[in-house]
Amino acid sequence: MADYTPRPEDRFSFGLWTVGWRGADPFGAPTREPLEATEAVERLAELGAWGISFHDDDLIPFGAADAERDQRVTAFRKALDATGLCVPMATTNLFTHPVFKDGAFTSNDRDVRRYALRKTLRNLDLAAQLGASTYVLWGGREGAESPAAKDVGAALDRYAEALNLLCGYVREQGYDIRFALEPKPNEPRGDILLPTIGHALGFITQLEEPARVGLNPEVGHEQMAGLSMVHGVAQALWQDKLFHIDLNGQNGPRYDQDLRFGNGDVKTAFFLVDLLETQGYTGPRHFDFKPARTEDYSGVWASAQACMRNYLIFRERASAFRADPEVQEALRASRVDDLRIPTLDAGETLASLAGDDFDVEQAALRGMHYERLDQLALDHLFGTR
Ligand code: GCO
Ligand code: MN
Ligand code: MN
Repeated sequence: MADYTPRPEDRFSFGLWTVGWRGADPFGAPTREPLEATEAVERLAELGAWGISFHDDDLIPFGAADAERDQRVTAFRKALDATGLCVPMATTNLFTHPVFKDGAFTSNDRDVRRYALRKTLRNLDLAAQLGASTYVLWGGREGAESPAAKDVGAALDRYAEALNLLCGYVREQGYDIRFALEPKPNEPRGDILLPTIGHALGFITQLEEPARVGLNPEVGHEQMAGLSMVHGVAQALWQDKLFHIDLNGQNGPRYDQDLRFGNGDVKTAFFLVDLLETQGYTGPRHFDFKPARTEDYSGVWASAQACMRNYLIFRERASAFRADPEVQEALRASRVDDLRIPTLDAGETLASLAGDDFDVEQAALRGMHYERLDQLALDHLFGTR
């Protein structure tokens, strides 16, 4: 039996807001008592996690006085030092307070936009102090319910303006921080700006310092849009834009379920881990899930542990799939490797194509053998091989 014990070198991290989620939803009150940040650090370290991320307001209650802020940051830092857990990423809560009801960087209310920048700058300083190298921007409130309400071109101008200012600040301060945009199609807004990986990749090209900005895609968010997370992440990797990742589970296009990693679409999870492990992704394996509201704290820790365990199971299953000689033969039969060969040889031009001896009818008859290949993947995933 393989060993599925998480270790720091696996680079598993969790948001403070994940294990700290108290279970309040639009229809029901919280089902759990608040969790101290220091306890989250200790418990996650015991479970074998490597990092913890936070929103400013997860660590320091909104509006807290400076003395309380200092006390909480000091206690958090002490817990980090004692356990060896690091802070790979931080982010700003620009969605809970009612002032953000129409967005933060793209609110129609200019005063709110200026306040959103101030709130972000303050937490960027803390992120740098705590050693975070990625700063996530999830614009959950950047959007609209009615097309009449939002001039999308102007909103994107303001979004880009905010990113340009933030990049400039980080550069001037000498912080070793990059920004990661997190796409989501809807919820809490009816339509959110930068709804998918593709939209966000396109947006980055319009920025002043595109190299400093990449993505933090979340499994469930692409699936809410009915898209393939595996293809989206593969393109982000192809463009060197996978700065961070939010792993969780989702069952198809519906509300954002934020299930623990491994629940939901298991096949996507398997191929996503295969992709991350084989395509050179070295960043955090960050879990952004909501431990089910039905659970007490023992269930919260069980679900956090399960996220890591499932990742390690998928990693082991995916590597067995890749190592299986029958799979390698099936990949060749499906000509998967052939796609890596440039369509024209070196020195050839489009004119060279005229010389091809090609029987179009014969080529059309060739089967691709993908069904066999896919079943081999499922056999490995199910553990029957
Ligand atoms: C969601 C989002 C959020 C963000 C997080 C970072 O589930 O809609 O994933 O959890 O990732 O708030 O700002
Ligand atoms: Mn989500
Ligand atoms: Mn997320």
